[in-house]
Amino acid sequence: MSARNYMLALLAQRQSGYSLAQPFYRDPEIFRLDLEQIWYREWLFAIPSCELAKAGSYVTHKVGDYRVIIVRGADKVIRAFHNTCRHRGSILCKAAKGNAPKLVCPYHQWTYELDGRLLWARDMGADFDASKFGLKPVHCRELAGLVYICLADQAPDFDAFAELARPYLEPHDLANAKIAHESTIVEKGNWKLVWENNRECYHCSGNHPALCRTFPEDPSLFGVDHETPEKLESHFRRMEAQGWPSRYRIADNMQYRMTRIPLLDGAESYTMDGKIAVDRFLGRVSDRTAGALLKFHYPTTWNHFLADHSITFRVTPVGPMETEVTTKWLVHKDAVEGEDYDLKRLTEVWTATNDEDRRVVEDNQNGINSPAYEPGPYSPTQEDGVISFVEWYCNTMQQRLLPTLLAAE
Ligand code: FES
Ligand SMILES: [Fe+2]
Repeated sequence: MSARNYMLALLAQRQSGYSLAQPFYRDPEIFRLDLEQIWYREWLFAIPSCELAKAGSYVTHKVGDYRVIIVRGADKVIRAFHNTCRHRGSILCKAAKGNAPKLVCPYHQWTYELDGRLLWARDMGADFDASKFGLKPVHCRELAGLVYICLADQAPDFDAFAELARPYLEPHDLANAKIAHESTIVEKGNWKLVWENNRECYHCSGNHPALCRTFPEDPSLFGVDHETPEKLESHFRRMEAQGWPSRYRIADNMQYRMTRIPLLDGAESYTMDGKIAVDRFLGRVSDRTAGALLKFHYPTTWNHFLADHSITFRVTPVGPMETEVTTKWLVHKDAVEGEDYDLKRLTEVWTATNDEDRRVVEDNQNGINSPAYEPGPYSPTQEDGVISFVEWYCNTMQQRLLPTLLAAE
């Protein structure tokens, strides 16, 4: 049976409201389909734009077999290119990040402009047309300080997401941020387990002592189907009266969502004492009790935007049972470490939380790997976010695999 038929058969047998069958979490062929049908086709959050501070600043990123350079041009525009030289294909930029006036291939020094044009190639003969050998572009969009890329030849629509998310993001002024700290961890678990874990707080009280000081576990604050409790409704009203969009909104296909929730008992930020972490605020949300603007966008990112700072998370699949999670703590670009914020205080809650999440995801993967594993039921109240993620994943795969199967017959 082809991998596509195999996956369609598994999807057809699936019991909704239950975790997925074992192959979805460990089979290399299913993982390959996940890459091809989702990761190579969707818009992927890559970096906060402040990471590319000036012309020539670049970062590299790897998604499946693709390698990408994201670079700010002399015209300040951020572009993305395939990180493979047009001569004989060498990787162009090997560093994770850097700054370069031109992009020079380490192999034979073909030299590219920051906008991708080939500027110089030695001894290629009189007929050589450099204009035909520019770097291959990757779709790239900047939205309110967040850079997204898409590896597909034809990118899906980005505008509907941008229109929904932009008004929520703009008050947080991410373009004027800097990265105070970043961490990359590798979780030995399938990328969907990382997401399933992220989409519920059923596990929080048993696993996240630091986060639970400030982050509310109450599922009615996040729910897909829950009625809005009065406490949340009044928070939405209070925030929106000040010009900060807050009300829960979700895409029709549930791929992305924005909502601003109050933190626990009037907490201000994700710190051990619940007080502000950064005295110089990032953005115009000046109310300490604004809570957290929560954004998720499958398959790459969840984010927390607070009054004083913001945190971006990026998920990247590495293998069938290996996922990289990169976290960046953003503060105002003029905030000074040691004066406006203490780095340990700023980062300790989510550093601990990430490590705790890594452990539960790895435990989950190891248990699923047993032949005795069978899909189990999600809690309809506590895990409706997980149900919605799994539905998005299964619907997306089904919609993409069925037509290709029919076309092949
Ligand atoms: S492969 Fe890049 S210059 Fe030869
Ligand atoms: Fe968690």
